[in-house]
Amino acid sequence: MQPIGPINALYPTPTTLVGAVVNGKPNFITIAHIGIMTLNHISLGIHKSHYTNAGIKENEAFSVCLPSEALMVQTDYCGIMTGKKTDKAAIFDVFYGELETAPMIRECPVCMECRLERIVDFAEHDVFVGEVVQTHVHPDVLKEGKIDIARVNPLLFDMASKHYWALGERLGQCWGEGKKLKRKTELRGNN
Ligand SMILES: Cc1cc2nc3c(=O)[nH]c(=O)nc-3n(C[C@H](O)[C@H](O)[C@H](O)COP(=O)(O)O)c2cc1C
Repeated sequence: MQPIGPINALYPTPTTLVGAVVNGKPNFITIAHIGIMTLNHISLGIHKSHYTNAGIKENEAFSVCLPSEALMVQTDYCGIMTGKKTDKAAIFDVFYGELETAPMIRECPVCMECRLERIVDFAEHDVFVGEVVQTHVHPDVLKEGKIDIARVNPLLFDMASKHYWALGERLGQCWGEGKKLKRKTELRGNN
């Protein structure tokens, strides 16, 4: 193994479009630094210089929308333009759910509305932690009532290559594949 310095190597992450109402209008920001805190809590690392932060703080609400590959150009656009100067919401069909201040994008196959729960104050970033209060999906991405990621076709983000990537093949069963090794080690009396 070769050390390469303190590089965060936890990519890919899904590329998301985060919606907030800022100065009374919907705005969308591209965010790749997202995290799963618990099954129903999401974190977003947003630089303090961005336009979006004030809207999330004011309304205590945001949305996290998952664009599919087909929305790559629009997603990248929301990551290079700022709501300070551009109405980015104008390129989307915007809708609202239960939290009336978490704008969502009808073109995205999955959108979650989140209530702000806490802000972790880093030197340059606000880390917003929100609770998912409702999830809206295109019915065609559901399989037996659950979200099928193959149908969502998420746009993956990689910092090292600075490219968008696509999802690969399904490989095996979680909480299942390891049982083969478990059985082997048990046979060896190694448990
Ligand atoms: C693919 C991609 C991912 C990004 N991820 C983040 C991120 O996780 N955190 C962040 O603060 N900015 C991120 N950005 C930058 C913001 O999306 C960008 O600065 C945006 O213009 C800010 O919008 P706003 O000023 O309307 O809030 C990303 C940009 C791109 C293109």
